[in-house]
Amino acid sequence: MKVAVLGFGTVGFGVYEMLKNAAGLEQGPVLVRPGKKDQPYKVTSIEEIVNDPSVGAVAEVMGGVEPAFSYASAALKAGKHFVTSNKALVAAKGPELDAIAREKGVAFLFSAACGGGVPFLHNLALARESDAILSFGGILNGTTNYMLDAMQRLHLDYADVLADAQRLGYAEADPTADVSGLDALRKIMLACAVACGTLPTDGLLNEGIESVTAADVAHFQSRGYTCRLIASGGRTEDGAYAYVEPVLLRDGAAECAVLQNFNMARYEGGCAGPIVLMGQGAGRWPTASAVLRDLSGILRGEREMFPANLRRGEVDNSACSHSYYVRLPAALAGELPAASAELDGELCRMITEPIPVSQMHFTAARLRESGAPVFFAAVRE
Ligand SMILES: NC(=O)c1ccc[n+]([C@@H]2O[C@H](COP(=O)([O-])OP(=O)(O)OC[C@H]3O[C@@H](n4cnc5c(N)ncnc54)[C@H](OP(=O)(O)O)[C@@H]3O)[C@@H](O)[C@H]2O)c1
Repeated sequence: MKVAVLGFGTVGFGVYEMLKNAAGLEQGPVLVRPGKKDQPYKVTSIEEIVNDPSVGAVAEVMGGVEPAFSYASAALKAGKHFVTSNKALVAAKGPELDAIAREKGVAFLFSAACGGGVPFLHNLALARESDAILSFGGILNGTTNYMLDAMQRLHLDYADVLADAQRLGYAEADPTADVSGLDALRKIMLACAVACGTLPTDGLLNEGIESVTAADVAHFQSRGYTCRLIASGGRTEDGAYAYVEPVLLRDGAAECAVLQNFNMARYEGGCAGPIVLMGQGAGRWPTASAVLRDLSGILRGEREMFPANLRRGEVDNSACSHSYYVRLPAALAGELPAASAELDGELCRMITEPIPVSQMHFTAARLRESGAPVFFAAVRE
């Protein structure tokens, strides 16, 4: 099967190179922007790919929603299989692309959009067929894991670990999507859609690591906790829950062994119990390997990752609650129900009573609106 590649950046170059040696797959044309066509295999218009009968599949690795969506629709409507590493595209337009692919009887696969080289969505889609998936999630963002790990093990502060992550290529020049938790949130949205058939449109809760300080890390480290940014999702009676937040784990928990920029995805099947997958969640070769895994899957007859009953819907986090570690100005300590609290100058560090996840997220947002610095992390014993 000849594969056209849309985009020739970090992942696109990797996909094109890997196609050289992949059984049953063949290098096809590569779409680049006008002005970048320095090789005969490069083309500058999607029509050259869509109208080429020798192209059997299209791998989109450009990023963004448009023109990726228009190109994907055109390729699928022309009867070409379509795979992508682009989570923004799948989160925004996944149901539309899935519908066209089903109508045309071609594949729409997107393993690489969540977990990079870690075969998370692929396994969720397989497991869903034979078992009830109860919950899923984990460490789905390598940049923030690198930063939290370095803060804890090397005792560095936030600005220094962010600069290191950027120098090493783990964080982009604008790191907002990673450190705000948005990247992990988009990934858990895809997992919700694959595992539960609900692509969340609203109700998601998202807290990143932007507020954590070296003093916070020293505080919870001295009490035997490690902090990780964790995406959580699962099945509810008629839909799904999903949220992202920092979590304090007791030293010895599996997540504490996930160092540097590694990912750890997990899911729990009703019969299978907990399953854990660990590996590189990003980078040229791990991500390209996931794109190739989908392309090879097409040769074996794989066609879809979303379940047939996919719908867009609001997530319901109302049944989720935890205790939280919260650092906030001492004057605001009464805003949350404390199980224990310590004063540290003008600051209060407390462990709350178990409270709904939404109460914690909304309270922090309200206090920050009035200018108060707040950090919180769920406590998992
Ligand atoms: N890098 C990773 O580790 C990783 C991991 C998982 C998923 N992903 C996803 O994979 C996708 C690609 O990521 P990447 O890191 O490879 O990005 P990248 O290095 O920026 O590469 C994207 C390439 O696509 C090209 N491109 C963008 N729009 C185009 C258009 N309209 N026509 C032709 N070419 C176009 C860009 O060209 P210009 O440079 O001229 O704009 C660039 O060469 C993204 O959706 C990303 O979220 C990446």
